[in-house]
Amino acid sequence: MAGYRLAAIPGDGVGPEVIAGARLVLDAVASRDGFSIDWLDVVAGGAAIDAYGVAIRPDDLDAVEACDAVLLGAVGGPRWDDPDATVRPEQALFALRGGLELFANLRPVTVLPALVPSSPVRPELLEGVDLLIVRELTSGLYFGRPSEQRETPEGRVAVDTLWYTEGEIRRVVRLAMELARGRRGRLTSVDKANVLATSRLWRKVVDETRPEFADVEVNHQLVDSCAMLLVRRPAAFDVLVTENLFGDILSDEAAVLAGSLGMLPSASVGDRRTAHGRFGLYEPIHGSAPDIAGRDLANPCGTILSAAMLLRWSLGLDGPAADVEAAVAAAIDDGYRTGDLVPADGDAAGLRVVGTREMSAAIVDRLGARVGAGT
Ligand code: IPM
Ligand code: MG
Repeated sequence: MAGYRLAAIPGDGVGPEVIAGARLVLDAVASRDGFSIDWLDVVAGGAAIDAYGVAIRPDDLDAVEACDAVLLGAVGGPRWDDPDATVRPEQALFALRGGLELFANLRPVTVLPALVPSSPVRPELLEGVDLLIVRELTSGLYFGRPSEQRETPEGRVAVDTLWYTEGEIRRVVRLAMELARGRRGRLTSVDKANVLATSRLWRKVVDETRPEFADVEVNHQLVDSCAMLLVRRPAAFDVLVTENLFGDILSDEAAVLAGSLGMLPSASVGDRRTAHGRFGLYEPIHGSAPDIAGRDLANPCGTILSAAMLLRWSLGLDGPAADVEAAVAAAIDDGYRTGDLVPADGDAAGLRVVGTREMSAAIVDRLGARVGAGT
């Protein structure tokens, strides 16, 4: 029997609830298809600050690196939000992303037809939306140094550093071009080249990479107009590639198309391969949502769809990945909705508004497997 080792990092807020749902789904697929998953539980984020005084322990980072892939819920919350704190939950994310060299964050955005009424965007604009945001994840403003506040004779001054090497740009642009080639062959590179030196270098590197991918149609788009076009004609986009902060912002905006931030999965990958596929970190794009944490209200779909990406990218299990995606769509088609998916007009007639656990169970049921069966 094939066996895989996966790290689970529930984190904070709704993280543990959505991770529990995704684990049920992965365990159900494993028992249905006769492979085994050996789970490594890792404490990170605010939970690790409380337990160990750091956002993630170096030994845990090493243990995670030795796994085939990582499933992460969310980190952060008001308890650890002191702006002067030197230890912050988000440091766990940056240690994982940067430390494991996961330089490309893939955020696919599709619209399930049954969720069109859940989006505030007009239905005719949502037709045919199928885009992939490729966000650079290990450089830019998130990692540039200095990043600090200083006391000066003029008062407090703060500085962050926007830094990119051509190598950092090239590797993520190449991956985005490869992905575009496997899709509709269109790549939009998003920058702010009319203002930023890093963006002008970004544009040059994109243009230098183009000859390797002559079959991919490439265009450059300024980030401000891209933000507008994402709601005006979202169906026109195929793959977008952009630097870290632009990708962070544009992906939350694009999530509105899918009906809720709670629907969107993500995969963070680099070049490293394991025996089964590309090593990766999989997490929903929503945060820890402390306001609804621990109340069985969170939407587990983004995490479950992240688990599907894990099956595909890190374990090479394309069939089971597609089954998980189909099971999520089937549960939605059958009327299951977490609170965030109730239609924008508030009319839930004919729908079954459920919590995290029931939504996860409905998805497991639609995989055609009973959890624990056959193991
Ligand atoms: C995301 C999140 C994180 C980010 C936060 C929690 C630091 O917004 O994954 O998009 O900005 O990268
Ligand atoms: Mg974000």
